[in-house]
Amino acid sequence: MRIAVTGTPGVGKTSACAFVKSMRVVHVSELIGELGLATGYDSKRKTKVVDTVRLAKEVDKLHGDMLMEGHLSHLLHPEVAVVLRCSPAVLEKRLLAKGWSEKKVRENVEAEAVDVILIEAMESVPTVLEIDTTDKKPAKVGAAIEEIISGERKKYRAGSVDWSQEVLGWF
Ligand SMILES: Nc1ncnc2c1ncn2[C@@H]1O[C@H](COP(=O)(O)OP(=O)(O)OP(=O)(O)O)[C@@H](O)[C@H]1O
Ligand SMILES: [Mg+2]
Repeated sequence: MRIAVTGTPGVGKTSACAFVKSMRVVHVSELIGELGLATGYDSKRKTKVVDTVRLAKEVDKLHGDMLMEGHLSHLLHPEVAVVLRCSPAVLEKRLLAKGWSEKKVRENVEAEAVDVILIEAMESVPTVLEIDTTDKKPAKVGAAIEEIISGERKKYRAGSVDWSQEVLGWF
């Protein structure tokens, strides 16, 4: 079984997956480095450019069950994508605390507000689940991922998270 833990940068994927013990955790950012798949650097967006098609092909060649962690992981042909979500206002605080620029924070907060990764995951992954991390500590998010590994689906079915009320408050 291949499970992707994905979500907007800063939602807490890496922090939560540190608590997952029952499955091999693959950090997609490390894999990109090991396989030399960063094809460039987008200085305007201050982010690495990654050939995701090649990355997916390389991941297809790997053997065994794994939990793939990273904001591109839903593109790597998992059977299940777990999209971690975070209220845009709280995400803004987490990203500013990481020292990110206002522009980069804004870009990611907007992406979270309009469900960019959720929609991307739904376009290609057979089963898409969501965990709202807003009021959960990383250990609790990790425990929810463990439940999903054990077979829980109903509790985390996509569609329960909705930031529209919060976003309407911006206008
Ligand atoms: N559940 C949480 N509650 C509060 N703060 C959190 C939570 N999860 C992570 N954080 C904090 O938010 C920041 C981002 O967390 P983390 O690096 O795990 O996110 P990420 O989704 O892996 O981001 P990236 O896509 O950039 O790798 C960190 O400073 C972390 O301490
Ligand atoms: Mg991370």
